[in-house]
Amino acid sequence: MALIGPKEMFRRAYAEGYAVGAFNVNNMEIIQGIMQAGAEEKAPIILQVSAGARKYAGQNYIVKLIEAGLQTAEIPVVLHLDHGADFQICKDCVDGGFTSVMYDGSHHSFEDNIAVTRQVVEYAHDHGVWVEAELGQLAGVEEDVVAEHSLYTDPDQVAEFVDRTGCDSLAVAIGTSHGAYKFKGEAKLDFDRLEKIGQLLPGYPIVLHGASSVPQEFVKMCNEYGGNVAGASGVPENLLRKAAGMAVCKINIDTDIRMAMTASIRKYLAEHPEDIDPRGYLKTAREAVKNMVQHKIRNVLGCSGKA
Ligand code: G3H
Ligand code: 13P
Ligand code: ZN
Repeated sequence: MALIGPKEMFRRAYAEGYAVGAFNVNNMEIIQGIMQAGAEEKAPIILQVSAGARKYAGQNYIVKLIEAGLQTAEIPVVLHLDHGADFQICKDCVDGGFTSVMYDGSHHSFEDNIAVTRQVVEYAHDHGVWVEAELGQLAGVEEDVVAEHSLYTDPDQVAEFVDRTGCDSLAVAIGTSHGAYKFKGEAKLDFDRLEKIGQLLPGYPIVLHGASSVPQEFVKMCNEYGGNVAGASGVPENLLRKAAGMAVCKINIDTDIRMAMTASIRKYLAEHPEDIDPRGYLKTAREAVKNMVQHKIRNVLGCSGKA
């Protein structure tokens, strides 16, 4: 199959109350694990590439690996730029065959965010490419509660932002955060805010970043086999499921891939101290990514059989 844009994926996800997983990819084993899970579940998949991934593997390597996977995959796959920091990186990805790009101007002023998002939209739409933008700032676990809430997406700004930029989907801040340490106390998302945003943008796809659930089995496995990720915690799966049933059509997951790989590699190496063949632990890691993604598709995103 060829890469597609997310338009039809999101239309259906919105209408049927599920979300599509957007998984960060950095190497062959991650791409294969995710695509195998998608194929077995007959689920749509978004593969997303960050600036860090482009730097690590090279954009062309990643695109070619995904193209290789597409030769046998019979599921819809979107290739998306994650957190594009400026117009140039968005342009490079549009030119490089991505079917969707994110411009992340969330750390800029409202007007500056609008101006660059608009510029990206004009270029991307001329090339038939989807644009995700972001309004509001994701909480960092180190920030205090007051600061976090003041940075949540302001529902009063969303309609104007979408109208003036022409962006196709919008990432919002409602309490999630990037990384493996998301909540100090009780895990909470601001569903009232999400509902308000949904009402103000009827039929419009919302994106949830920082949505790994940091499964405790991986935390435990890391710590048992020489790691130190004590206190790591994520967004509980039932909250993600609830968001997927609302206006959220895309749920971003990177940390859980890192956790699945690192935990399984640590365990494998501890149990096979004599093994020096990278294929041993990389195969185990690929299998762990596949199983984790399959679990998400079935039990969290609700997109099994929606390919
Ligand atoms: O949101 C950020 C993603 O987890 C990508 O992380 O920039 O380290 O590749 P990265
Ligand atoms: P996590 O760190 O929760 O996996 O979030 C990933 C993300 O939002 C990528 O854009
Ligand atoms: Zn993100």
